[in-house]
Amino acid sequence: MIKVRIAGTGSYLPPTRLTNDDLARRMDTSDEWIRTRTGIRERRILDAGAVPAEMGVAAARAALAAAGKGPADVDLLIVATNVPEEIIPGTAPYLAAALKLAKDAPFFDVTAGCAGFVYALALGGAMIAVGLAKSALVVGTEALSRFVDWEDRSTCVLFGDGAGAAVLVPTEGTAGILGVSLHGDPTKLSLLRIEAGGVRRPATVDTVREGLHFLRMEGEGLFRPAVTMMARATREALARAGLTLQDIDWVIPHQANLRIVDALAKRLGLPPERVVVNIDHVANTSTASIPIALDELARTGRVEPGQVVALTAFGAGACYGTVILRW
Ligand SMILES: CC(C)(COP(=O)(O)OP(=O)(O)OC[C@H]1O[C@@H](n2cnc3c(N)ncnc32)[C@H](O)[C@@H]1OP(=O)(O)O)[C@@H](O)C(=O)NCCC(=O)NCCS
Repeated sequence: MIKVRIAGTGSYLPPTRLTNDDLARRMDTSDEWIRTRTGIRERRILDAGAVPAEMGVAAARAALAAAGKGPADVDLLIVATNVPEEIIPGTAPYLAAALKLAKDAPFFDVTAGCAGFVYALALGGAMIAVGLAKSALVVGTEALSRFVDWEDRSTCVLFGDGAGAAVLVPTEGTAGILGVSLHGDPTKLSLLRIEAGGVRRPATVDTVREGLHFLRMEGEGLFRPAVTMMARATREALARAGLTLQDIDWVIPHQANLRIVDALAKRLGLPPERVVVNIDHVANTSTASIPIALDELARTGRVEPGQVVALTAFGAGACYGTVILRW
């Protein structure tokens, strides 16, 4: 099997900031409640007139530049997202068109809740490993602000918009994807969903009136399983990589809630200085959360060649998984 490494990362956050105090002026909440329950201080929101795909395009261009590659070098595009540009044809063709990829390069979307980027990275890596692609651009892009109910304080305060990307290439060196673990638990599918707008319940005037096109979450039901799921996948991916928890230099957990991140670190016995946290300024950006945090880690020079990085996520479905990399 061909070995695969990340050659470059990129990310994009829309310029409009929405702080907890801004939210407290609009609804019955407070900076104190949001900060102590979630660790979030502010989030970025895509402006009403902005085109969501442009976030993914900006992140992808930055990742390609970091990898020293151009659009013509992209052999495969995988886009992880929960809320596509349009139900048909999704988001990937919009990104392929805007990036001006080689005209016959394959592209597709992956839907795996907030674990979408981890799934997409594993898939892109596997396709290169078996020779189905020579390089892969993997993007996580999300504009959930357009699907949260701004009257539902228990959900709308948690999410933010953004995009992140990584370029995968074959390698003969020691850096690269070392181990992967992907899992699902459909007993939790009702905990996080958008009920209407799909084929099961197509959008009608009534579904819109009832607000069924909004994201609904039973947050309490996800809290504990999230820790268990990410811990299980991380242990399993490490074992497949022939490594142990002591070998991890950085863990980048999906940024859903600082308390979940802290509980995961405690469960795995990882010291806080090895855990990447950026939820304070981005909130939960779903599929974009891990590539944005990875890009911040890379661009600030904190991750060094040879270090072991664990990317772990859970989300709607419930889908969860971990990818272990050597940087
Ligand atoms: C959603 C979440 C932050 C709630 O935190 P919590 O500690 O369970 O909340 P609590 O049970 O202590 O508080 C709930 C109370 O706060 C209130 N509340 C909810 N949102 C609020 C807000 N934004 N501001 C103020 N009060 C709020 C509720 O109405 C409820 O009040 P009640 O007890 O009077 O009914 C937490 O459960 C969570 O993060 N869950 C995981 C969600 C997740 O990971 N989602 C992403 C999946 S990818």
